[in-house]
Amino acid sequence: MVAPSILSADFANLEKEIKAIATAGADWVHVDVMDGHFVPNITIGIPVVKSLKKISPLPLDVHLMIDEPEKYVEQFVKAGSDYLTIHVESTKDPAAVLKNIRALGAKAGITLRPRTSVQDVLPLLSLCDLVLVMTVEPGFGGQSFMHDQIAKISALRAEISKQNLKCLIEVDGGINAETALLCHEADVFVAGSYVFGNDYKSAIWALKDGKLPSSK
Ligand code: DX5
Ligand code: ZN
Repeated sequence: MVAPSILSADFANLEKEIKAIATAGADWVHVDVMDGHFVPNITIGIPVVKSLKKISPLPLDVHLMIDEPEKYVEQFVKAGSDYLTIHVESTKDPAAVLKNIRALGAKAGITLRPRTSVQDVLPLLSLCDLVLVMTVEPGFGGQSFMHDQIAKISALRAEISKQNLKCLIEVDGGINAETALLCHEADVFVAGSYVFGNDYKSAIWALKDGKLPSSK
């Protein structure tokens, strides 16, 4: 599946952009929420998620890069987040936040910074519908893919099989047709600059097919 990150979309035309990626074959809309504390950048918040929910034909996959997410998850779920992902480093009790997201009726996701050990999320997988592997330092679109994060995908795949869980593995950061091939064990590819910087349909289908556009 492919979840284009609207961080690289035209913010003055989000309805048009979301409808265009839906027509081009996207599965979810990835929404990056940044607070200027957990990461050194500020993006969008609850009112924008609420507005996107009214127009989006696709599920909203909301990636919270904020401190103390426990204070805001209820509002993000009520605003229409279908998947709501928190960072393991952002809260003292990630298990409680994940349980709350599910109790509120959304799918719960956990993610980790590149420098965080995958061991930190393994005990949380049974509380999750999604685990997101960051392949760039969170905060900005357009960065280069970090190859040293690929091993986390394999470790997660092994643990998900071992525990017989249904948790999806998503990968985010520097994803394009080449780097997606290296992440073949992932279920969902997030891509911002690659999708919005190219012909949407060709880029989305290159990621879905697991082939380089030239080899199609
Ligand atoms: C980074 C965000 C990503 C970002 C991906 O903090 O979580 O979703 O938008 O952008 P690209 O695909 O350009 O690396
Ligand atoms: Zn993201």
